[in-house]
Amino acid sequence: MGTQITMPAGVRQAAMLGLGVHRPERVVSNDEICELIDSNDEWIRTRTGIRNRRFAEPKESVIDMSVPAAQKALEAAGVEPEQIGAVIVATSTYVMQTPPAAAVVADRLGTKGPAAFDLGGGCAGFCTALALASDMVRGGSSDKVLVIGVEQMSVTTDPYDRSTRFIFGDGAGAVVVGATDAAGIGPVSWGSDGSQADAIVQEPGWLDFIDNPTGPRPFIKMAGTAVFRWAAFEMGKVALDAVEKAGLSVDDLDAFVPHQANARITEVIARSMKLPETVPVADDIEETGNTSAASVPLAMEAMLRKGEAKAGDTALLLAFGAGLSYAAQVVTLPPLQS
Ligand code: COA
Repeated sequence: MGTQITMPAGVRQAAMLGLGVHRPERVVSNDEICELIDSNDEWIRTRTGIRNRRFAEPKESVIDMSVPAAQKALEAAGVEPEQIGAVIVATSTYVMQTPPAAAVVADRLGTKGPAAFDLGGGCAGFCTALALASDMVRGGSSDKVLVIGVEQMSVTTDPYDRSTRFIFGDGAGAVVVGATDAAGIGPVSWGSDGSQADAIVQEPGWLDFIDNPTGPRPFIKMAGTAVFRWAAFEMGKVALDAVEKAGLSVDDLDAFVPHQANARITEVIARSMKLPETVPVADDIEETGNTSAASVPLAMEAMLRKGEAKAGDTALLLAFGAGLSYAAQVVTLPPLQS
């Protein structure tokens, strides 16, 4: 036995202390999307629930969207940048692979050199990072963790691909996770099914593109029906597992904030969970589209802003997508910047 290593006791609880978002200015309608794909507004609305989405400006990067979202989250939490001990950026669309976006975001925020890393969890990225941040706070490795879900899907989807282009949008959402007396982030229910990993892929791979630079560039390709079936059949069980792990029932929920993948998927999941009809369900997809790792924090913000739920309410978060991976937890909703 070597020298005894000292570890923090790790008995604290964790909660989201504040929430902030960034929605890019440019609103892109279904009609604009349909200028380049063979589709129409009515088909997109009835199949997905989407009317509009936001696209970042070409030079407005994942980092540029993360910083204002994080600043608003810090303000809402009443936390100074130098108090942040770790920054996690959940994204699958930061096309610069080095350096990690999180380190640059941390610097721009004026933090004091916290731990900083990116997390590639697809559409499940935010809830996965939230679970990690909660464990980091409870385990004692950080007092305050900034969690950001951010995507620039407009540059990773092919403007001419009628199976993906109409679904996705850009944006960022951030929360500060910190130590609290009572648990504000419940146990996570998470997992993956890599046997279906080819349902959402980047194609071609970067190495293939480097070998053949005059060929097609990498874009996201999706087997939509396979993803729909998987989500509709499996995600209700995951959601119920998260509720059970938190020692609650669906009757205890004040709000349901599922990943904004498709309004029809949300309906099927809510029905399969037997969610009471009185529980408000986030429907940010109509004006925001599917923003992958940003969708759950953006949808939380929309519910709080519209008064469909309030800070302190008990909400179920559920995110799922590429991998095929998923993560869900019951949380206490955080305050927005006033
Ligand atoms: N516009 C108009 N028609 C389209 C279309 C489009 N963009 N894309 C497909 N169609 C047509 C097909 O050609 C087909 O026509 P047919 O019946 O004459 O052969 C019909 O619509 C049905 O195609 P299908 O691919 O089965 O559509 P769908 O009902 O599965 O809906 C999605 C497609 C993508 C909306 C749906 O599968 C979905 O939302 N999947 C989940 C995607 C998702 O959430 N991904 C994010 C990861 S979390």
